[in-house]
Amino acid sequence: MSEPQLGRLLYPSDRIAARVGEIAAELNRRFAQRPAVMVAVLKGATVFLADLVRRLRFPLTVDFVRIASYGAGTKPGEMRFIKDVELPLERRDVIVVDDIVDTGATLARLRQALETHHPASVTTVALLRRAPKRRLPPVLDIVGFELETDDFVAGYGIDCAERFRELDAIYAVRTPE
Ligand code: IMP
Ligand code: MG
Repeated sequence: MSEPQLGRLLYPSDRIAARVGEIAAELNRRFAQRPAVMVAVLKGATVFLADLVRRLRFPLTVDFVRIASYGAGTKPGEMRFIKDVELPLERRDVIVVDDIVDTGATLARLRQALETHHPASVTTVALLRRAPKRRLPPVLDIVGFELETDDFVAGYGIDCAERFRELDAIYAVRTPE
């Protein structure tokens, strides 16, 4: 099998940094002095989370989840955590941080799973959203960029077969047959 190759540069690092600053400003407005629990989805959201939290100006704690990927046909609410949350979420304001939303199925199931902890609120943030092909219930409160391509993307924490997470920009990826 041949290695995946980087294609077109989609979001250079300065554009990502500017947008992360705007997302942080929006969260700072919404949360002001209210404490929140950030729940980031491993592994793709780690770089985004690291840049984001350093610009937040309200008291926060950080936790992580890791979700097993299922094929299509998984019922809503059915979700297996490889790593579940460790901090108590009851009556807390929770901010979910993810890298990229495609169909929205993962985030919808994650939100349902987090709701069972009876948080005060759940706000969802993703750096990228693929333009929806089908109309699904909205799952995102804050989006960094609306992805205009169907190509697989990688960089800035996002992988293609575990590669390219270290890149400071986001690229389209070509996966030769
Ligand atoms: P969804 O459940 O269809 O929204 O899938 C979202 C998940 O699929 C993301 O959290 C990513 O882990 C993965 N994913 C979707 N598109 C890409 C991509 O272009 N590059 C890397 N991962 C992706
Ligand atoms: Mg993911």
